[in-house]
Amino acid sequence: MAEIGKDIAKAAKYLTEGELVAIPTETVYGLAGNALDERAVLKIFKTKDRPEFDPLIIHLGKKSQLMDYVQDVPEELAALGERFWPGPLTLLLPKKDIIPDLVTSGLDTVGVRVPRHPLTRKLLQQLNFPLAAPSANPFGYISPTRARHVQDQLGDKINYILDGGDCEVGLESTIVGMEQGQVIVYRLGGISVADIEDAVGKVLILPQSSSNPKSPGMLKSHYAPKKPVYLGDLDELMEKFGRKGIVFAVLSFTRAFADLPDSLQLALSADGNYDEAARNLFSYMRLLDASDAEVILAQELPEIHLGKAINDRLRRAAAK
Ligand code: TXA
Ligand code: MG
Repeated sequence: MAEIGKDIAKAAKYLTEGELVAIPTETVYGLAGNALDERAVLKIFKTKDRPEFDPLIIHLGKKSQLMDYVQDVPEELAALGERFWPGPLTLLLPKKDIIPDLVTSGLDTVGVRVPRHPLTRKLLQQLNFPLAAPSANPFGYISPTRARHVQDQLGDKINYILDGGDCEVGLESTIVGMEQGQVIVYRLGGISVADIEDAVGKVLILPQSSSNPKSPGMLKSHYAPKKPVYLGDLDELMEKFGRKGIVFAVLSFTRAFADLPDSLQLALSADGNYDEAARNLFSYMRLLDASDAEVILAQELPEIHLGKAINDRLRRAAAK
């Protein structure tokens, strides 16, 4: 089992020695290692069971370090960094040679993010290298939003989990890049498309439901619980599975169901608050995955605020 604690100096010591540490960010917990040390980076892929063709993003303590690792920053992306960093935004930028090819799976661009979680900011500011960190879950499973989630799945493979409490945003970062003068959203995430467009005008959202050759980690059946997830009209789904005698659990946006036991239903936000729904999404999926139900029934949210990103994760969870 990994030790869970709030000791930044201890986390820094492990990382400096080339070991991995799970770190809290405002989005999800990350499995971090020295991004400039190929051996540490290799450990990340091995520990997560992640294919080496799926690139990692790097985390910086300060915006001012950006030019140490990337060649240049198009104006539009610079504007996004100015506005949303520190925060749940990852920019794809042409990398400098100092970033090992293993980090970017051989791509010319590197994903960079300045997270805003106070513990991890302090940690990064004590290190003289950036941290490569994918979400701290086994490849393909739901991302962790509390230290316990990491312990449950990777606890026997790492020494230390820096405990920063529950993640404030709960969805991975929004990934944005540029091609031929066009701003592109590669992954929907913790900053809504509306907020991105407010800063830089109309963007192109890359189709999220199919596999994306530029970013293999965005494969459809990602973020998936072990139990089958069905997405649709909840009343119809409940009727259908009830008729077949299949035990189901329900993940709704706001609704509670009088005839279902509490252990088999969760509402993402009783008040219909999208930020709260995002914060609860992954931990609720884990709870229902561990319930007595055979299947999980869920509904899509209206596509406003973080609804788009939440629906993206629900669709991936439901994808076969
Ligand atoms: O919020 C987050 O972004 C979290 C926290 C820990 O920072 N990290 C995270 O990392 O979600 P990960 O590895 O689970 O997801 C990063 C995604 C992957 O799907 C990967 O394929 C894509 O980013 N990616 C990374 N570098 C890329 C690049 N150069 N070009 C295209 N896609 C890239
Ligand atoms: Mg991930």
